[in-house]
Amino acid sequence: MPHFLKETDFTARQAAAVFDLARKLKRERRAARPADLDRQTWALLFSKSSTRTRVSFEVGIHELGGNPLFLNKNDIQLGRGETVADTARVLSRFVHGLIVRTFAHSEVEELARWGSVPVINALTDFLHPCQIYTDAFTLAERWAGNGALFDSLRGRKLAFLGDTACNMANSWILGGSLFGMKIALAGPAAFAPGNEIRSLLEREKRPAEFLFTTDPFEAVRAADVVYTDVWVSMGKEEEKRERLAQMAPYSVTEKLFAAAKPDAFFMHCLPAHEGEEAAKAVLEHPRSIIFDEAENRLHTQKAIMATLAASA
Ligand code: CP
Ligand code: NVA
Repeated sequence: MPHFLKETDFTARQAAAVFDLARKLKRERRAARPADLDRQTWALLFSKSSTRTRVSFEVGIHELGGNPLFLNKNDIQLGRGETVADTARVLSRFVHGLIVRTFAHSEVEELARWGSVPVINALTDFLHPCQIYTDAFTLAERWAGNGALFDSLRGRKLAFLGDTACNMANSWILGGSLFGMKIALAGPAAFAPGNEIRSLLEREKRPAEFLFTTDPFEAVRAADVVYTDVWVSMGKEEEKRERLAQMAPYSVTEKLFAAAKPDAFFMHCLPAHEGEEAAKAVLEHPRSIIFDEAENRLHTQKAIMATLAASA
């Protein structure tokens, strides 16, 4: 059964096809493609809040001819202790796909192991692959011209600032290795990329070609993209005060953004905390593409679902 739990669950060739399909779906959005998920029901099983992910998946499933079923963890028996394995086996008898947002990455792996329908990772504490594919597609739209979307990413440099141990940082490290991008991360020493992502790279025999530094200006030098994320991810609220203090030097100010390439883009997966991880002037900068990123969640995830449904 095909799943999308991490960036490298698709090969480079498959990822390139996903980008091409996303572009086609974006161009032809008004020409419905109800055959892709024809009368299927895809469940969204969420244990954390969401605006973009939930709405883009629900709209996307509808546009592909399917029916989205939103399940808050606490509204189903999973929230009262029914096992993940039983939940996976029961839901697989009813629905055609599971889109899961949760804390432990092992939970999406367990759902995939026990279920018999495709599982999509819609964010765990470890990875956020739907966001990374969308972000890469958003950049490729700008860089590819008439060439191939996927190939336009190769050799580009992305600087990731702030919480360099979070899901988005891990996902850029893994996604960057698939896309052939150079990833430079700058954050406090205590937030250096951890063992979980390093051992995944090792297991997949991917050279860990990312750079980690505590100097934000070193990371953004010659960068094509400056990327940041919230300093307090979902589930880390108790650490808020110390995180804000430790990460303050990594705020994307106008001065820091200006130290990247003159045509660099600014990206943020959102939601943003203005004045914390990025200045208002950067979020609103003419080269900030944060709302294109948000929109492209729809097109990219439709391409991911159609791809999985076709091979399920
Ligand atoms: N970027 C992102 O995943 O947003 P939501 O948390 O609103 O879904
Ligand atoms: N790192 C953030 C991403 C939100 C889309 C979090 O996990 O809360």
